[in-house]
Amino acid sequence: MGKRRQQYHLEPDRGLLNDPNGLTYFKGKYYVFFQWNRFSKDHSYKEWGLFTSKDMIRWNFEGSALLPDQYCDKDGTYSGSGYVINDRLYLFYTGNTKKQGVRKSYQCMAVSDDGRKFLKLGSVLETPAEYTEHFRDPKVLGTENNGYYMLAGGQRKSGMGALAICHSDDGLNWKYAGMPAVTEKYEMIECPDLFKLGENYVLLYNPQSRDNEKDIPLDSFSAVKIIDFNEEKGTFSDSDLDQNYARMDQGFDFYAPQTFEDGSGRRILYAWMSRMDDAQEKIFAAGEPNIHCLTLPRELKVEDGRLLQKPVRELRQMLGEEVKAVRQEKPAAEAGEGFTAEYALRGRAFCMSIDTGKTDWSREFKIVFHGGESSLSYRPEDQLVIFTRKNWVTEKPESKECRINGFKNAEIWADRSSMEIFINSGKTVFTSRVWTEESAPKIEISGIPEEMQIEVHEIDKEIL
Ligand code: FRU
Repeated sequence: MGKRRQQYHLEPDRGLLNDPNGLTYFKGKYYVFFQWNRFSKDHSYKEWGLFTSKDMIRWNFEGSALLPDQYCDKDGTYSGSGYVINDRLYLFYTGNTKKQGVRKSYQCMAVSDDGRKFLKLGSVLETPAEYTEHFRDPKVLGTENNGYYMLAGGQRKSGMGALAICHSDDGLNWKYAGMPAVTEKYEMIECPDLFKLGENYVLLYNPQSRDNEKDIPLDSFSAVKIIDFNEEKGTFSDSDLDQNYARMDQGFDFYAPQTFEDGSGRRILYAWMSRMDDAQEKIFAAGEPNIHCLTLPRELKVEDGRLLQKPVRELRQMLGEEVKAVRQEKPAAEAGEGFTAEYALRGRAFCMSIDTGKTDWSREFKIVFHGGESSLSYRPEDQLVIFTRKNWVTEKPESKECRINGFKNAEIWADRSSMEIFINSGKTVFTSRVWTEESAPKIEISGIPEEMQIEVHEIDKEIL
């Protein structure tokens, strides 16, 4: 097995994974579909693969679920969502087709009674006249009194991005219902999601810059905004996608998040843990059976108008032995006024929590993982959190930073080749893949005063 293959993140046994798709809780099981190229570690082919689980801890890899084998999806069963209607699991996805290089998209449906066999029902919607054929990623939501909506991402004929909304009384017959929001800065919007959380509606979307002439993507990121959604009209209180949004993640690798509601009413998110370019993918995949994984499942909350992401509580069942630190005081010049602490680990997978017990932490600290493979530091002068990893293409360190409003706590979930860092109860998140070196697994902290609570646990379990 390759050394970058993960231990407790979902990834298939071969090929390339991208977006999470069709997330649902159906008849007592979690369904996590995903974009999959089962033939090679590149983007030349797309189908849906499937993982299932009863508890989000132990997973079964079920293999292929939706193949590109019909007139309306022959060049890829692209991203989409799942929704349970009358005890049946419906899947909504984009059928991508190309004829002599010309793209045509169809929004398609499939249905299952047992979560094993998926019957394709064909195309349910062709691209509305206002959009180009960059029209995809249907996300379905039910309402209390007005049937179902389907939100899709797209590009207007002007070449700039927009959302589209469709309506259905029964979830089976769909009609285009309007353009609820647009961007004048990005050429495309991918993988939108819309859901109610408490009193709020939360809109997730992924603005993408494209070179329209060459028809290639250039850059993209995930955005979130809290809006009012008019369930009767299918309109948003704010139709400007270029304003009043927050970036969902501050790290290197997070994209195409999708959410679902589980059996207990929690709103749970998975995302694709990658923003790698071709050169990065090639080197990262070398010597491995597969490339890319999903993020950990995260429970969402809205607090004071901000989205909070926290690893679901079930994951704590994976925590193994607590690792005790070897603590020693260092001269002030070397370690600020604090202590240094070192944790020697058996493996690279661990969960670390840090609690300052305060809201106005004013000392600098730095945490170095595995002898410098990556690090996290906090600079109180400007309240800056900095995550650094080694870029495996240039072989130089590279950083991402984010200003926060005072450091209070952090939870760090590390797997063999990834770090998910949740700061201040999940208000600020850094998600990144990391390059694995030969160094022994360990954590070194400098600049911590005694009153900081730190807990480190090994994670030995495999989830597949
Ligand atoms: C996002 C995306 C989607 C599309 C899918 C194809 O990563 O480009 O818009 O449906 O990937 O794999």
